[in-house]
Amino acid sequence: MTTEHWWRSAVIYQIYPRSFADSNGDGIGDLRGIVEHLDYLHDGTPRSLGVDALWLSPFYPSPQADFGYDISDYQAVDPAYGTLADVEKLVEGAHQRGMRVIVDLVMNHTSDRHPWFLESRSSRSNPKRDWYVWADGRDGGPPNNWLSSFERCGPAWTRDETTGQFYLHSFTPQQPDLNLRNPQVRAAIREVWGFWLKQGVDGFRIDVAHRLFKDGQLRDNPEPLAAYRRYHRHPELRQYNLDQPESHELLRELRCFLDGHGPGLLLGEVPISDDSRLVEYFGADGMHTAFHIAFWEQPWDAAAFRGTVDRLSALARPDALPTYALATHDIPRTVSRYGLRQARVAAMMMFTLRGLPCVYYGEELGMADSPPERALDVDDRDGQRVPMQWEPTGTGFTTGTPWLPFGRDIGTANVLVQDAAPDSSLNLYRRLIRYRHASTALRFGDYGSLDSPAQTFVYRRRSPEEELLVALNFADRPIVLAIGEGPARLELSTDAARSAGPVSLRSVPLGALEGVLLRVG
Ligand code: NOJ
Ligand code: CA
Repeated sequence: MTTEHWWRSAVIYQIYPRSFADSNGDGIGDLRGIVEHLDYLHDGTPRSLGVDALWLSPFYPSPQADFGYDISDYQAVDPAYGTLADVEKLVEGAHQRGMRVIVDLVMNHTSDRHPWFLESRSSRSNPKRDWYVWADGRDGGPPNNWLSSFERCGPAWTRDETTGQFYLHSFTPQQPDLNLRNPQVRAAIREVWGFWLKQGVDGFRIDVAHRLFKDGQLRDNPEPLAAYRRYHRHPELRQYNLDQPESHELLRELRCFLDGHGPGLLLGEVPISDDSRLVEYFGADGMHTAFHIAFWEQPWDAAAFRGTVDRLSALARPDALPTYALATHDIPRTVSRYGLRQARVAAMMMFTLRGLPCVYYGEELGMADSPPERALDVDDRDGQRVPMQWEPTGTGFTTGTPWLPFGRDIGTANVLVQDAAPDSSLNLYRRLIRYRHASTALRFGDYGSLDSPAQTFVYRRRSPEEELLVALNFADRPIVLAIGEGPARLELSTDAARSAGPVSLRSVPLGALEGVLLRVG
């Protein structure tokens, strides 16, 4: 556990604690449940998934208005998820197995039940009044035209009866935005960083890193804002309520703080659709990496993926690595967006691009979304939060009633069945991760895409030691590709029936919806 840049070659696994494993039968996943399944994630043998770092979505005390992203105490664990002692066990157990742990850092807002906000809202003269963003209304309405990121919430402002002013909330009204310009707030937030680093965590996933500051004059956004289905899709360029220069300053400060504690990781969530703005957030002295959010917005189209990967690769600082995720707790699952076989091709893409792969729990099984009959989430994200399917009946997740229904695919998309099936999605993930770990070209090599026929995406990964080619067929029909001259060896295919062996680069046959990894020479 020593290498300074461990994160550069890490495969990250996102755990949504509520949905991973329930240890006490209340139907809600918890920290002990995670501890009990650490061997599944990495036990040092090819039988486990072999991931290097766990990102845990929030497990802090929360009224759950946004399922944990509304925090009422930054330095504790919600009793539904366990205790600080469980965090210690989790971190220790992960470290013993060579895995790092990164936790979610939500600095933009707290819960409206956080004691800071209760004080702040109590009177205009309360010493914590300025810890949040308060403003007078305009013409009987909110102070300006900013909207909440959740379509259903409407304006980003709510009037508080006690004092007659409005407070800002970029998300639900239960998530008031902190005023990070206030030095006392900054000091309080710094304490939070220190607290979790002292618990032994190895870094942070930074929630909405681009939203931490808003225009000090609260100016109206230039264009009237249409309603958007998902906040990630906002064409939110140069708006006054996000992407302000002070965010970079705070993130640099955090980076410095983290570096002072050892080799940690800052993984940014920066849902800005303009790549030229996104790349400002990672590399150099900012966050180490950030999600390439355009990646999860692409249709199933080879040219679209090639375009978005090439664009970000060209814009990013030479040394900077983006993070590629196919799904998260905010994004519908890969199988639901694209289909089962497509998801295998997408997995090969994610693990072979230049960047950090981030696997959302259950993606390795090809689990599909399973929306409940009655929506619980304010932004319709229940479907992708389906409990982890450990075996066909659901008892592997809980002995009680799960907080969300399992998928109809539980008979096949489960760990028990897939562990035993050589051609399963789980075993494909294991092979891809193992291959990646052994390959300097995949971990550290450069990337370049090649021109290729429609509905194929072909790229080269090269290190001083090796040269690999990845050829992905997005089409539902076979194709034969001419990729170059000379011999190569087929190392891996998304089609488990296809065996490794020599191929000629002049004619590489690809099955319908098949991806292959070739070693040149
Ligand atoms: C991004 C998180 O991923 C999402 O789940 C949450 O609703 C918002 N930030 C607000 O914290
Ligand atoms: Ca539980």
